[in-house]
Amino acid sequence: MKCVTTIHELRSDLKPSRGKIIGFVPTMGYLHEGHLSLVERAKKMCDVVVMSIFVNPLQFGPTEDLEKYPRDLARDTALAEANGVDFLFTPSVEEMYPTASKTLVTVKDITDSLCGASRPGHFDGVATVVSKLFNIVQPDYAFFGMKDAQQVAVIQQMVSDLNMPVTIVPCEIVREADGLALSSRNVYLNEEQRRQALVLFRSLNTVKQAFDNGERRTAALKEAAVSAISKSPEARIDYVEIREYPSLAEIETIDGEALVALAVYFENTRLIDNIKLSVRGGNAHVSHHDESQNSPGHGDRSELELCGQYNN
Ligand code: PAJ
Repeated sequence: MKCVTTIHELRSDLKPSRGKIIGFVPTMGYLHEGHLSLVERAKKMCDVVVMSIFVNPLQFGPTEDLEKYPRDLARDTALAEANGVDFLFTPSVEEMYPTASKTLVTVKDITDSLCGASRPGHFDGVATVVSKLFNIVQPDYAFFGMKDAQQVAVIQQMVSDLNMPVTIVPCEIVREADGLALSSRNVYLNEEQRRQALVLFRSLNTVKQAFDNGERRTAALKEAAVSAISKSPEARIDYVEIREYPSLAEIETIDGEALVALAVYFENTRLIDNIKLSVRGGNAHVSHHDESQNSPGHGDRSELELCGQYNN
């Protein structure tokens, strides 16, 4: 694996690979199995896999956790290498933003709700850095986790609107054995908070159960999630939303693809999770978050096993 810190060097290192299929996995590091599942998927579809690790200041709000965001480059480098990454790009903030930037990439409307509403400017930061990284790497495929479902919708919209020559591959959520979605921010949780954090997945399953029993009204489904979360004394709800996916339009009843998304605080730690529900041809099922054909995937498998109630 080649470790690269400058844009110039990465561009020249990738020259011999032009013409091959290049896969790209952008991350902010502190790697876990969720990130590595994207690499695994990329390895299957591409000849060359580039991973970036860059904690992007532009996507953090002034009161957010930029300074204390967990970092461990030595461990990440070893993990990336062991998992078959070919190029690891770890630019400094100065390398990515040498001067005060005057260009922002803004995706309208779908960034107004959910995480976009709680984190003003967040998706401008994401869309801008991902545009820059796409321009630097010029990948054929880029791999994103459905853990950040709104991010996937935003990036897909941006790529389509700006005619970027890259295909976005959404990948399933990877979970701990007990159902908690893997996240670099899980390290912030103390033991009790970690125990109570299961309420995110549990409340999503409560919604899924009600949906399976025929409930289609989003207000009733939302209420089921809110009341499940309120059983956890340390949990503070940021949002619980059920929206059409990927438009993120508000809906009163589910009659197509819907995203059940939530964000919950445990003290200052904000965790997000989601599931997709869909009604197709009158048959309700949980979507596997996976729009392309050739993937065994990870996350929903554990979800299926854990709940024992999904039978598709
Ligand atoms: P980061 O939070 O490091 O996540 C990098 C990628 O890993 C994202 O596509 C995210 O959805 C995916 N991921 C995280 N946890 C996952 C899980 N449990 N299962 C599956 N995939 C998971 O998302 C970002 O960084 C940044 O916003 C970035 C796109 C790199 C732009 O700065």
